[in-house]
This record gives sequence, structure tokens and C-alpha cells, in this order.
Amino acid sequence: MQMAADLPIFCTHLDDIVKVMAMVDGLPLNIEPIILSKLNNKYLGFAFTEHNISQALLFEKDKLSLVQYKDGELIKVSNEWHTLTKRIVTAGRKSELLLQAAKLTAGQSVIDGTAGFGHDSLILASTGAMVMMCENNPIMALMLMHEHHRMQSNANWQGLLSRIKIYHGNVLDVRASCDLVYLDPMFPQDSYSAKVGKTMQALHAFVAPPSRDDEIQLLNHAVQLIHDEGRVIIKRPVSAPHLAQQAPIQSWQNDAVRFDQYHKHPIVDNLVAQ
Ligand SMILES: C[S@@+](CC[C@H](N)C(=O)[O-])C[C@H]1O[C@@H](n2cnc3c(N)ncnc32)[C@H](O)[C@@H]1O
Repeated sequence: MQMAADLPIFCTHLDDIVKVMAMVDGLPLNIEPIILSKLNNKYLGFAFTEHNISQALLFEKDKLSLVQYKDGELIKVSNEWHTLTKRIVTAGRKSELLLQAAKLTAGQSVIDGTAGFGHDSLILASTGAMVMMCENNPIMALMLMHEHHRMQSNANWQGLLSRIKIYHGNVLDVRASCDLVYLDPMFPQDSYSAKVGKTMQALHAFVAPPSRDDEIQLLNHAVQLIHDEGRVIIKRPVSAPHLAQQAPIQSWQNDAVRFDQYHKHPIVDNLVAQ
């Protein structure tokens, strides 16, 4: 059972609120609209203080962002899929470590069990694979759905978007059989280097890293979701321990991140034995 999340949303126009309410339909989110005459940083700062809140959604020129206000500083994060256009067009096994690890071919099926902002999913879908973005947090799921909808108006993106499905829910509830499961679970905040970025650090305000038991469940479930020849790829900060303390079959790493690969049988046998 999902808990409903309460979140204020700042907009300048009543029309914007109507659009957001339509998007929220079906998600366990209680959105409280706050209309502001302007949306610049100064006004947002006042609004956070006046309403005694530290986090809100912001709907601005058809763009949805998550804004946090802490110690007088505003942090604004949004999916910004268009900023990945060049990377997606040129993505290949040479340029993307993730694709070296994933070894996907067109038409294969992927479940991204921790979709977040959807960036890694887009790189995976650039191969021609079909990607299911699975996201448990209703705020993140809303931002994914909105970004998917927003990018549809760009003709160059329609092929890629048609290969992506968004599912709001826990990946542990997904029943399917696929070629690849990809997981990028949260990690304790201080493990993220500056290279991993402010965006991920901002997520920590409302998404907790998995416990050791959650890690075991995630890995165990991921290997159940792949067919016999399938692969599980886990993204970790470069110096992080392996998920659920399970040694991977192979790893690929650069100076910021590591991708650990698992196959079905050794993991099923090990985890069941624990
Ligand atoms: C580190 S972020 C992933 C970032 C993502 N790889 C990207 O490129 O933007 C992890 C995300 O996984 C989601 N998540 C964590 N556990 C989950 C679960 N069991 N099922 C679905 N989503 C989950 C969190 O809500 C969070 O948004």
C-alpha cells in the first residue's frame, strides 16, 4: 500500500494548476496549490518562509521542478531530458560505460527498477531496447510522466519515447521476464562525489537509501525478473561496497561510478542460502 505524499506546488496561473491536477490523477499525491504573482528566486524564498515549508513542486512555463529551500538557498532540480539529446544521439559502447556493461541490442527488454530522473533509462533506450521505468516515489513518478509527455512535442524524440513505459510502483511488485534489470539504488549521501552531482544529493531529502534487507530483496528480485541468459546491472558510487555484499560476475568503472553485473544462478543460490 502506497502512502499519499503531501506537497505544495507553486504556479503563477490557475490554468497551470488545472494541468498539474490532471497529471496527478491516479498518483497518491495530495497537491496543495499556491499561486504566486512571480516565480523568481526572491518570491520563492518568501513563499517558503511564509508557508513554513522546505520543499515544493514548481510549475513554470510547462516545466515541473522540485525546489528545496534550505539555509536561505534554493535548489531546483528537474528531469531536463532535452539536455541529454547529444549524449543519446552519440551513445554507444565506446562513449557510455553503462552500455558497455549492458550489451543491449535493439528490441531487447529492460526494467529500470529505480528510474529516478530517467536519465540512465534514456541511455539504455538509445540502443533500441524497450525500457520500463519503474519508480516508487509518487513525486518522482509524476516528474517522469510529465517529462515524457512534455518531450512528445519534439518530433526527434518520438521514436525513443515510444520505447519507454513508466510504471509508478515498487519494482518488488513487478512480475515480468526481461533481458536486463538495471538498478541504481540510493546510497548514503556522503558517498556521492561532486561528479555524481547536486541532483542526486537533492533526492536524498525525500528518498531514503535501502537498508541491508532491502538490498538483498532488490537483488534477489532483480535476478528473478531476468530470463536464464539475462543480466542484472547495478550502478554504485565507485568505492561503494557491492549491493547486498554480493560479488558481481564482472564490473566496469570510471573515476565516479561502477557498474556491477550479475547473472541469474549464482545469485539465486547465494541469496536463498543466506
Ligand atoms: C538514485 S535514484 C536513480 C537515478 C536514475 N538512475 C537516473 O538516471 O536518474 C533512485 C530512485 O529509485 C527509486 N526507488 C528506490 N527503491 C525503489 C523500488 N523498490 N521500486 C521503485 N523505485 C525505487 C527512488 O525513489 C529514486 O527515485
